[in-house]
Amino acid sequence: MRRYSRIAGTGSSLPPRRVTNDDLVAQLAQQGIETSDEWIVERTGIRSRHFAERDVASSDLALEASRRALEAAGRQPQDIDLIIVATSTPDMVFPSTACILQHKLGANGCPAFDVQAVCSGFVYALTVADAMIQSGAASRALVVGAEVFSRILDFKDRTTCVLFGDGAGAVVLEASETPGILASDLHADGSHVGILCVPGNVYGGQILGDPLLKMDGQAVFKLAVGLLDKAARATLDKAGLTDADVDWLIPHQANIRIMQSTARKLKLPMDKVVVTVDQHGNTSAASIPLALDHAVRAGQVKPGQTVLLEGVGGGFTWGAVLLKI
Ligand code: UT7
Repeated sequence: MRRYSRIAGTGSSLPPRRVTNDDLVAQLAQQGIETSDEWIVERTGIRSRHFAERDVASSDLALEASRRALEAAGRQPQDIDLIIVATSTPDMVFPSTACILQHKLGANGCPAFDVQAVCSGFVYALTVADAMIQSGAASRALVVGAEVFSRILDFKDRTTCVLFGDGAGAVVLEASETPGILASDLHADGSHVGILCVPGNVYGGQILGDPLLKMDGQAVFKLAVGLLDKAARATLDKAGLTDADVDWLIPHQANIRIMQSTARKLKLPMDKVVVTVDQHGNTSAASIPLALDHAVRAGQVKPGQTVLLEGVGGGFTWGAVLLKI
């Protein structure tokens, strides 16, 4: 009998400090930088985001999200035999945030590693966990997206600092006789490294280069709208389904205009699209599992429904995962 993987529980975590567009407008005005709630809402759909305090790391947000996902799945940390964390804002250069999370959870012993695919990180991590479960290498995985992007933002650059937020989302993915994950489709094109990056790195105890986020927003926008529906269609084709079979689209939450464009191309009405970008901003690898958990807990996404996840981000990376919840 074929072995599948299936989501058994979801969880998420947001730092308590909510920062509205007007809060940012006031903060930037102190440095003589002009922006407005109207511009941010009209161009992105973002109204607020959450920022973590200085002493809160990705692993802390991941821990809270993981505990909630485990509780929803009726599992204990010891039941987990694989931990994958998708993050571009790890606690340390090394060890991985997954190892730090494992220790905080008290789930010691199982393999634990990070996946670095920026905003596509969660679809990458979910695909890897699904493959490991299908192969028999794991039976019950914790798959997490966790970010503290607020600490890599350049608050002198209004074109990027208004876009991102902090948070984490997690799922427990278990071996199952019924699907679960139906198909996935991942891609990367490293020729676009420069359009979205944090170019700094550590050299001899010093930071070499600029350790703050740089983005050519228009180039990213164009690539994203051109690529996402192709990955979505390829995933549907692999599963032998069509866009008419999709109950919910949960896209990476970067910009409402990209989400609307993808939905249009997939002929999905916006009431089939889970939208949290207005409340969370772009939380990179955390955005999809955060949106999924919010939709599950709000009773939007229901057991038995078909859900299409799709991510896009630095690398350039993109991909989609189709699943039955
Ligand atoms: O997570 C990875 C994926 N990331 C994304 O998907 C982001 C993709 N890109 C975007 O979402 C959009 O390109 C942005 C939201 C970043 C920018 O929106 P846009 O409609 O492409 O604006 P633009 O870059 O063409 O800028 C339009 C104008 C410019 O002024 P001028 O040159 O027309 O006078 C900017 O200087 O808006 C100005 N502007 C701002 N004005 C007020 C840029 N940022 C701001 C701001 N407040 N925060």
